Amino acid sequence: MSADKFIEEKYGLRDNPFLDQIAREIWLDTWVNREEQLTRWQAVISNLRKPRKNYIVLIIGDYGEGKTQSLFKIVSDASQYREIYPAFFTFRGEQKPKAPGLEFMFRIFKSIDFKKLEKAYGKKLRASIEAIPDDLDEVKVILRNCCLAESTLQKLALYFLRGELKPTKTDLKQLGIIRKIDDIDIAKEYLAGILNLLKKLGFEALLLAVDEVEYLFSLVPKPQQSIYIALLRGLYDFPVGITKDIGDIAKVAVFLAVSGDGYRRLVEIGKEEAAIGGPTTALLDRIDAQTNLGVLTKEYSTDLVIKRLHYDRVEGRYTNQPLIPFDQTFIDLIWEITKGNPRDIIEKCSHVLDAGIEKGVSHLDRKTAEALLRERKEL
Ligand SMILES: Nc1ncnc2c1ncn2[C@@H]1O[C@H](COP(=O)(O)OP(=O)(O)OP(=O)(O)O)[C@@H](O)[C@H]1O
Ligand SMILES: [Mg+2]
Repeated sequence: MSADKFIEEKYGLRDNPFLDQIAREIWLDTWVNREEQLTRWQAVISNLRKPRKNYIVLIIGDYGEGKTQSLFKIVSDASQYREIYPAFFTFRGEQKPKAPGLEFMFRIFKSIDFKKLEKAYGKKLRASIEAIPDDLDEVKVILRNCCLAESTLQKLALYFLRGELKPTKTDLKQLGIIRKIDDIDIAKEYLAGILNLLKKLGFEALLLAVDEVEYLFSLVPKPQQSIYIALLRGLYDFPVGITKDIGDIAKVAVFLAVSGDGYRRLVEIGKEEAAIGGPTTALLDRIDAQTNLGVLTKEYSTDLVIKRLHYDRVEGRYTNQPLIPFDQTFIDLIWEITKGNPRDIIEKCSHVLDAGIEKGVSHLDRKTAEALLRERKEL
């Protein structure tokens, strides 16, 4: 029997549901546990609907504990609310940044889907752009071009705003502005303009879900790390320091996912700075909620295995399967060798299932699973 056919007949699934070991939006349907953390994240999300302040929330977790998946969950929960504009992006870059800090601001701008806003708000978007305060005149021109210009100019404006092109004098002229976005202060004006626009469209807050913050430490040399740290602190304090009239703006909430190691380094840097002053302690002081992921309990690990086995990825829903052919001894084994790390659970199950399919195994218990894993040198 072919692997596909076996898995369909046996499990009612069209695909090995464990093959995929990284976080994805579809896996929100197989979400388990994290009630404690969820409560704290949701409290912040709920506050954002009537915001009085900006927020910084930290999500700390080791390899495979679910940082990325948790950010997806936060973005998904936040998007249920009309008042919140959620965006996800990662700190990790493919190359060393040419302009540290600035390039982080560009990532924020990149995460705003202007085309979608155009579609959803049409006329209101136009009016809102025109009502951006005159102090932000260049931002206004660029946003107008990003949303409303004919396609060549629109592309140029979007590339410009996202830092994806080095604008020539001709480009700037065509865009109708004088300044490039080449320092943080100018970038902050653009952020202010975007937040002003979001507010006018009815968004109370921009929620930034930022993954892999630990890359900060490999991304740039030490002196430049503090540029990023200062920038994050600056986002929390935003718009303090801007002297222009930026009108009423949406608040900013930053959810930062960081590895345990990354977090410890932050704390270390904070200590080093203690004598000389620096942005790190200031950033750590501003954290509104700090949540640690850790591993899953046995109960939730079991939940995860069962949920994944019931999920039909092709149809994007749970199947009405009668019994999944594995027993408690199989769960016990998975628990023993993974200690509840979600990535490891999924990885081990994936191996067992793949090998089991190859061999036409019809029931998974400890013994069969052990044999299959040994064969694959996974045990
Ligand atoms: N609460 C959860 N419920 C269900 N599945 C989860 C949960 N948390 C994580 N997972 C699953 O575990 C796997 C690992 O999660 P994820 O990729 O988010 O970990 P991570 O901490 O971001 O890992 P890395 O350190 O490699 O970036 C993914 O397949 C994800 O879908
Ligand atoms: Mg991740």
